[in-house]
Amino acid sequence: MSTSTTDLRIDIDRLQQRLADLAAIGAIEGTEGCARLALTDEDKAGRDLVVTWMEDLGLQITVDGIGNVTGVMAGQIDGPPVMCGSHIDTVRTGGRYDGNLGVLAGLEVIETLMTAGVTPRRSVAVAYFTDEEGARFAPDMLGSLVYVGGMALEEALEIKAIDGAVLGEELERIGYAGSAPVPGLVPHAFVELHVEQGPVLEAEGITVGAVDGVQGISWQEVTVTGQSNHAGTTPMHLRKDPGFVAAACANFVRGLALELGHPQVATVGRVEFRPNLVNVVPASATFTVDLRNTDEAVLQDAEARFSSFLAETAAAEDCTVETKTLARFEPVIFDESMIELVQDVAVELGHSVKRMPSGAGHDAQMLARVCPTSMIFTPSKDGISHNPAEYTSPSDLEAGANVMLQTMLRLASK
Ligand code: GLV
Ligand code: MN
Ligand code: MN
Repeated sequence: MSTSTTDLRIDIDRLQQRLADLAAIGAIEGTEGCARLALTDEDKAGRDLVVTWMEDLGLQITVDGIGNVTGVMAGQIDGPPVMCGSHIDTVRTGGRYDGNLGVLAGLEVIETLMTAGVTPRRSVAVAYFTDEEGARFAPDMLGSLVYVGGMALEEALEIKAIDGAVLGEELERIGYAGSAPVPGLVPHAFVELHVEQGPVLEAEGITVGAVDGVQGISWQEVTVTGQSNHAGTTPMHLRKDPGFVAAACANFVRGLALELGHPQVATVGRVEFRPNLVNVVPASATFTVDLRNTDEAVLQDAEARFSSFLAETAAAEDCTVETKTLARFEPVIFDESMIELVQDVAVELGHSVKRMPSGAGHDAQMLARVCPTSMIFTPSKDGISHNPAEYTSPSDLEAGANVMLQTMLRLASK
């Protein structure tokens, strides 16, 4: 690599401006955050804006059958690109950095190369993958899962949203049912820049995380059905109360995570009682359970113990239970040479760096199935994410994006 490319740096003001412009779509009033659940009108508007930026840069744009969008800057040789990317859908209470950073930093890397008149040996691509969050359509990382052939397109298109919409119909409706084939082109390598979304880097005063893997994820939806009845007249010993079973389960998984110890986590994030009224013993309760661990055996143990507790508690309350798996991904370990590359580049750029696992799911964990993959983390203020208050300082964003630029340049030069 010539001296001139090792000296290249991104333009943080341009990156910040794009982050702000994208966050203005679906903005949550009075906050810095945004709500662009996958395949909603807000997601469409966000997608359109990013496509406009890809067009402005003259990228070769493709949209595949699950709505993943890729923009390619041609290199000097034919062959698969060095790809970066992430997602631009958000949870309903999203911050402006989760996912968006990886995509917009990818545009920034490409614009930096173009402005400097640098054409890397290999092509360079930036992609945004459909429905990474999985908050509206489960599972999470859906677009990248389909991209790598982990789920058939036909199956994905039939997935139902929490609001009853069908994924394929929503894709058509917003104009992102594309024609590029899935599984998609296997990249030469994949790099994802993302905010940490946890407290570790900030607490330790470290600027860059070299992510060595992603913990396993288990999501299920549980529906408990009992006997709806009058809250005042039904003696406690005669109740079949699904609300009680749901509450007991939430209490149990918390205790289970504490007993199994770090890094086991457990969350009941969505609960719906029917009919959800003050004076009615619920007819049914539907709730989600999110269990995660870096150790597959411990995660399986947590799943089995929850399952026994659920069955016993529901039986004791004379309720019936139905469970549905929403997502199940084993822990992923990234390619060692890619992790080391991120560490080396960070050190060369003068940043403190730490190897660490990811607690959140990411598109990179899917791409890791098909090509050498790594992730770069930047610190999250107070470890807050999936919350409009999510924040990363401009200097940390700049550091992370420059590590991605130099990492991609190295990968693209060989
Ligand atoms: C998805 O991004 C998750 O980690 O929940
Ligand atoms: Mn994300
Ligand atoms: Mn997220």
